[in-house]
Amino acid sequence: MTAMVKAEGVHKSFGAAHILKGIDLEVAKGEVFCLIGPSGSGKSTFLRCINHLEQVSAGRLYVDGELVGYRQKGDKLYELKDSEVALKRRDIGMVFQRFNLFPHMTAMENVMEAPVQVRGESRAVARERAISLLDRVGLSDKAKNYPSQLSGGQQQRVAIARALAMEPKLMLFDEPTSALDPELVGDVLDVMRGLAEDGMTMIVVTHEMGFAREVGDALVFMDDGVVVESGHPRDVLTNPQHDRTKSFLSKVL
Ligand SMILES: Nc1ncnc2c1ncn2[C@@H]1O[C@H](COP(=O)(O)OP(=O)(O)O)[C@@H](O)[C@H]1O
Ligand SMILES: [Mg+2]
Repeated sequence: MTAMVKAEGVHKSFGAAHILKGIDLEVAKGEVFCLIGPSGSGKSTFLRCINHLEQVSAGRLYVDGELVGYRQKGDKLYELKDSEVALKRRDIGMVFQRFNLFPHMTAMENVMEAPVQVRGESRAVARERAISLLDRVGLSDKAKNYPSQLSGGQQQRVAIARALAMEPKLMLFDEPTSALDPELVGDVLDVMRGLAEDGMTMIVVTHEMGFAREVGDALVFMDDGVVVESGHPRDVLTNPQHDRTKSFLSKVL
């Protein structure tokens, strides 16, 4: 079966700064793939490459069998047009540390926005889906609330519903609970756990090692732009093989 994400020797530089130094990994369909590592190791940059927000400098990156940002004809690569990139980005949902909801729209309107504006869906259809998505993230009763009237955890769950509204085949989470008060983290993780149970392919950058251990199918430890160690979360977390992994885990566990 085609991998949902496949990275082959992916490099990324910003000017002279070499950030990703040859990432090889594969994320299977339906898998919860956790990415951990110290700040500055390139985790967000890697997610942004998957989501076509950054172009890789070298190597190959495929999402669902298709090269990110390029079309291959024979053995030549052609850069995709912005409109083609935008079309592909629709298949990938992204949830950031900061929720980035539209402040002047209710929870419901936030969830309806992209299907209506980007996909040209009717408001009736978009509303039906938004109702069911808000229910799925446990916020049926908050549909008419504005972001300022919601807790951080509730806002983050609206952000997840908003990403799901475009019916993505892949969800990227970039430290989705890092900005939350500790007592609000659990509800967000529960929503992510539910998504995983429903078979969503997810790449999750997180410091929540409990989540990684219980929900993750695979875990990669990244440091300084390389994959240091990977395996089943339970194995890597309880029996790390490399000193860098051990040192990192001793600080976060
Ligand atoms: N657009 C950019 N221009 C220049 N440097 C960047 C850019 N984005 C990220 N970086 C640098 O790349 C490195 C890795 O960043 P990042 O991917 O955010 O790491 P992580 O998410 O693991 O904390 C950092 O040193 C950061 O300053
Ligand atoms: Mg980051």
